[in-house]
Amino acid sequence: MSLAWSDFARALADEPLPVALVDLDALERNVDRLRAQVRGTGKTLRVASKSVRHVGLLRRVLERGGDDFRGLMCFTPREAAFLATEGFDDLLVAYPSTRGLAEVAAQVRDGKTIRLMADGEAHLEAYQRAAEAAGVTLEVLLELDVAYQPMGGRLHLGVLRSPLRTAARIEAVAREAQRHGSLRVVGLMGYEAHVAGLPDATPFSRALNPARRALKRLSVPQIAQLRADAVEALRRAGVDPVVVNGGGTGSLSTTTSEAAVTEVTAGSGFLCSHLFDYYVGNVLEPAAFFALEVCREPEAGVVTCLGGGYVASGEPGWDRLPLPWLPRGLQYISIEGAGEVQTPLRVPSGVRLAVGDPVIFRHAKAGELAERFDAYALMSGGRIVAREPTYRGQGACFL
Ligand SMILES: Cc1ncc(COP(=O)(O)O)c(C=O)c1O
Repeated sequence: MSLAWSDFARALADEPLPVALVDLDALERNVDRLRAQVRGTGKTLRVASKSVRHVGLLRRVLERGGDDFRGLMCFTPREAAFLATEGFDDLLVAYPSTRGLAEVAAQVRDGKTIRLMADGEAHLEAYQRAAEAAGVTLEVLLELDVAYQPMGGRLHLGVLRSPLRTAARIEAVAREAQRHGSLRVVGLMGYEAHVAGLPDATPFSRALNPARRALKRLSVPQIAQLRADAVEALRRAGVDPVVVNGGGTGSLSTTTSEAAVTEVTAGSGFLCSHLFDYYVGNVLEPAAFFALEVCREPEAGVVTCLGGGYVASGEPGWDRLPLPWLPRGLQYISIEGAGEVQTPLRVPSGVRLAVGDPVIFRHAKAGELAERFDAYALMSGGRIVAREPTYRGQGACFL
């Protein structure tokens, strides 16, 4: 059962605000829902740490995911090294970086599996130097760009990720990598952001929803073909891929059906930040929240919350603001939005909020909330049962 405003109000009666909250019961149900999407497909699910950024929650998610979940997808080499010191293993750094490599190499020397992402010579050279300096072999995945490329590749619809857009380029870079004696290419990743990360039932720009659905429909078979071709290209270059990673929360149903893929990734779906509400067929429920205090009533029908301007990354727009969640029906004042210190909200008729009451919000993105709070208050059965640090609370800030 999802928590009601009255549940939060009771739990927060003596709590300093603002506070960030995770409903562990909802989180467990989301883990079970995502697990059900991979179970029986022959794929495992890798947890995207960037969409959690909380060691205690990452542990819970992996534990509940059982054999169907395997490893973490990290967002920087330093983060991967940090997670290794926290006891995690099987870490895939999904974004190339030439910094923090000595820390990764040291963990690899100590027996951890940490794999790095490359899309060209600059990455390979940096990885080779780090590997040589530490006297280890570093395992590398190549990143295939799987944006929709109609008109023989003259159009690129999707996010700009990697310059490797064809199987032939993957083969060429895999061969180049073989010239680096301390590196081993062990697979590839192709992340279809324009399918997995593109809301197609969003109330913020309804008119574009049909076009988004068409883009997804058209590109899914093209992605599958490209990934399969790229795997063949790796084999031609002498690589038998151990990891072929694809997908995200919003694409599990299509990515898990590709024979060439060995594993899928999901992160945001566990906490289900509000951008993940706006997908056709979404089955997830909100599990992460923050509560602000009503600090004044500037006029009848409006309350002001203290704080709230936690705007999410990505293309700027109203959908990047936190969603006033409970009580239902609260709305931003359009010329103010979510304020640095004060956030006025229009109160619908029938809702009563007094000074001191909490208002419950949801962040647009699942991981970024953790950059705003030192700890999450963890709830179960409608009560706060624990408090555990976020990355920020551990003094760990990677981006
Ligand atoms: C490489 C990669 N894979 C998968 C994902 C999916 O993560 P999520 O499930 O949080 O959307 C992302 C998110 O940006 C990503 O960058």
